[in-house]
Amino acid sequence: METFVDAAKKDANGSVQNKSVTVVFVLGGPGSGKGTQCANIVEHFGYTHLSAGDLLRAEIKSGSENGTLIDNMIKEGKIVPSEVTIKLLQRAIQENGNDKFLIDGFPRNEENRAAFESVTGIEPEFVLFFDCSEEEMERRLLNRNQGRVDDNIETIRKRFKVFLDSSLPVIEYYNAKGKVRKIDAAKPIEGVFESVRSVFTVSGDKVAA
Ligand code: ADP
Ligand code: C5P
Ligand code: MG
Repeated sequence: METFVDAAKKDANGSVQNKSVTVVFVLGGPGSGKGTQCANIVEHFGYTHLSAGDLLRAEIKSGSENGTLIDNMIKEGKIVPSEVTIKLLQRAIQENGNDKFLIDGFPRNEENRAAFESVTGIEPEFVLFFDCSEEEMERRLLNRNQGRVDDNIETIRKRFKVFLDSSLPVIEYYNAKGKVRKIDAAKPIEGVFESVRSVFTVSGDKVAA
């Protein structure tokens, strides 16, 4: 039987595989500051920011046939099947003229990781991991005020459990390959960016400003 990975590979017709891209995965618990720091990295190092969560929320808004499924999973803090998320990421990479991408909030579990690698053939350059305590992340999420359906205490607790059970093993997988750059994300925004800046400077990315 043809799996979605086979179908997606055919679908892409080699297109993403043929586009030579640099990818950095940006991981960390909910509220650890991934989106905030990605905006800084875009400004200083010329990457394009792709947030898996933002792409999924845009898909709900667009009235897509998967909208209800995605909405229900986000409300429960569950991870949407890779098939859906990878299609959105592939499309975003393909449509963008840039060749350097920050992929934020993905891969969130082993299924995300293995399917993305198999479908796109892309290996991350490195993985930026924002390390932050649950107390601090909870405080930030409850103050975020972006009207998100999942920033309430019940869903936040579920998201923390999913992060520990499903997402941390992905970080451990890349750590064993020497690819994780761990950042102390509990500091104020400027202090966190100083650590982020050194990671990108060492990796050879030119500082634009
Ligand atoms: P994530 O994308 O990891 O869920 P966000 O970047 O959306 O996290 O940040 C969550 C909230 O915390 C936002 O309101 C943001 O302004 C705030 N925030 C981000 N980084 C910090 C920080 N280092 N210190 C204090 N608040 C922060
Ligand atoms: O990263 P962000 O906090 O924006 O993600 C919000 C929600 O989107 C997650 O809790 C999850 O329900 C969904 N998501 C997902 N798969 C991903 C990224 C996000 O299902 N790879
Ligand atoms: Mg975010």
